[in-house]
Amino acid sequence: MAPLLVVEDLYISYGAIEALKGISLYLDEGEIACVLGANGAGKSTLLQAISGIVPIRKGTITLQTDVLNNVPPYEIVRKGVSQAPEGRKVFSTLTVEENLNLGAYTRKKKTDEVTEAKERVFTLFPILKNRRKQLAGTLSGGEQQMLAIGRALMSTPRLLLLDEPSLGLAPILVNQIFTIIREINEQGTSILLVEQNAHKALGIAQKGYVLENGLVATSGSASELQSNQKIQEAYLGGSALKNNK
Ligand SMILES: Nc1ncnc2c1ncn2[C@@H]1O[C@H](COP(=O)(O)OP(=O)(O)OP(=O)(O)O)[C@@H](O)[C@H]1O
Ligand SMILES: [Mg+2]
Repeated sequence: MAPLLVVEDLYISYGAIEALKGISLYLDEGEIACVLGANGAGKSTLLQAISGIVPIRKGTITLQTDVLNNVPPYEIVRKGVSQAPEGRKVFSTLTVEENLNLGAYTRKKKTDEVTEAKERVFTLFPILKNRRKQLAGTLSGGEQQMLAIGRALMSTPRLLLLDEPSLGLAPILVNQIFTIIREINEQGTSILLVEQNAHKALGIAQKGYVLENGLVATSGSASELQSNQKIQEAYLGGSALKNNK
């Protein structure tokens, strides 16, 4: 079977700045793949390109048989790809429920489909159900992060793009978010996960790609990357793996 997502020799520039310089990766249906890398490596740019938000200079992005180059973002959502962006980015003057409803809008769902998608989100994140009438801007950081993921799930994506979902969360919430990401995947959604928390990300992913300066520096199965000395030193805090087990 063809992979769900194939990124081939992708180049993205912001004016004179070359953010991606020929990235290739793929994701099979049902997989979690993580994308690791230092600040500025190009991780968010990669997700923005898949979502159709930044123009592609060279290379191709394919979702099964559909080429996504030059497809507008709302159409990419309709094809089954949605993103919970970095830094939460919820609509702060709308309620939790209004934020979720907007997530379903692009895919033009019927009322009962929206209700069903919302129930799924509320089962994954019960706190959002309790806070459904609260303005999103008054939620805690962790709750906003959950809302951002919940909103992305409202279009029932086949492929969910997560940009640093654990950023800025307290350790207990980090564990909770990773458990929920695994649960979303077990319910049938493939996930491309950008993370700084390499240890946790490799703990739930099948494989990973390490970006450095707009290039894939290393890739491999999660266990290969976990035991790779260079990866351990750069992203896993030396012998942190052994200590954390
Ligand atoms: N809108 C933009 N205009 C100009 N340069 C940009 C823009 N967005 C990103 N860049 C540059 O592209 C490079 C890659 O940025 P990107 O946000 O993809 O990195 P990242 O890996 O997500 O980093 P972080 O871990 O800090 O989120 C950086 O050098 C950044 O300064
Ligand atoms: Mg980023």
